[in-house]
Amino acid sequence: MIRVLINGIAGKMGQEVLRAVESAADIKLEAAVDLKPLQRSDFPVYQDLNQALLQERVDAVIDFTRPDAVLANIETCLQHRVPAVVGTTGLTAEELEDIDKRAEGTDWGVLVAPNFAIGAVLMMRFAAEAARFFPEAEILEFHHQQKLDAPSGTALRTASMIAKARTEQPEGLRIGRDVSAEARGCLADDVPIHSIRLPGYVAHQEVQFGLPGQTLTIRHDSTHRESFMPGVLLAIRRIGEVQGVVVGLEHLLFS
Ligand SMILES: NC(=O)c1ccc[n+]([C@@H]2O[C@H](COP(=O)([O-])OP(=O)(O)OC[C@H]3O[C@@H](n4cnc5c(N)ncnc54)[C@H](O)[C@@H]3O)[C@@H](O)[C@H]2O)c1
Repeated sequence: MIRVLINGIAGKMGQEVLRAVESAADIKLEAAVDLKPLQRSDFPVYQDLNQALLQERVDAVIDFTRPDAVLANIETCLQHRVPAVVGTTGLTAEELEDIDKRAEGTDWGVLVAPNFAIGAVLMMRFAAEAARFFPEAEILEFHHQQKLDAPSGTALRTASMIAKARTEQPEGLRIGRDVSAEARGCLADDVPIHSIRLPGYVAHQEVQFGLPGQTLTIRHDSTHRESFMPGVLLAIRRIGEVQGVVVGLEHLLFS
């Protein structure tokens, strides 16, 4: 039995993870944490992760909290040597590198996945494949209005994968007197990203590629948060294999 702690249990993703964990025969929810009070009689709910880890013995922490809290949460997991499965977005490459260095020489690991939906992982992979032939790409990402960060972690990761796969550099944005930079999106790894935040959306992304005479569109839609759960359960079951910082579910999915 794998004993887990859900950090951010009162949130939209925390509640979805709770349902998924409760329906998995091999995973037991040992405890949970949230800043918001949550009354449960079947497991203890703490308001502080450090306090929870001092009291409870768990095999993994699952973190779906906030971009401004996630770094401290990972540091707490590292201090307690409890592996972590992190879905919270907003971590920078420098922060992840720093954590990775500090984990050197330990057997501790953290999987950070900007998107746990299998379809989204494939969409990123297909986008990287297309980028070998189409250097010009733009990303449109659509999320619900409560999402705190923009651009999304998935969009930034896609842009970085496109940049690595390119065999030719794109022309880049033409910004001038009549073309404002804001109107052309924000630039990450030379890929413009356009972030839309509207009620009605869950998590959606479209990557558009263009060459003379043709366009190619790769799109993924998460229409419900249950889309993320097979990936989260896979990560919980295999977190023991992860050492240091591993970014992206594909490292578990395709190995
Ligand atoms: N990786 C993925 O597949 C994926 C999918 C969806 C959302 N997300 C990300 O997951 C995160 C959570 O999303 P959400 O929609 O559930 O948000 P939410 O606002 O509904 O929930 C966040 C919860 O975390 C709690 N919280 C905040 N700071 C905390 C702290 N320091 N300690 C403990 N609890 C804390 C809040 O009280 C809240 O209950 C966001 O960063 C979002 O972008 C990732």
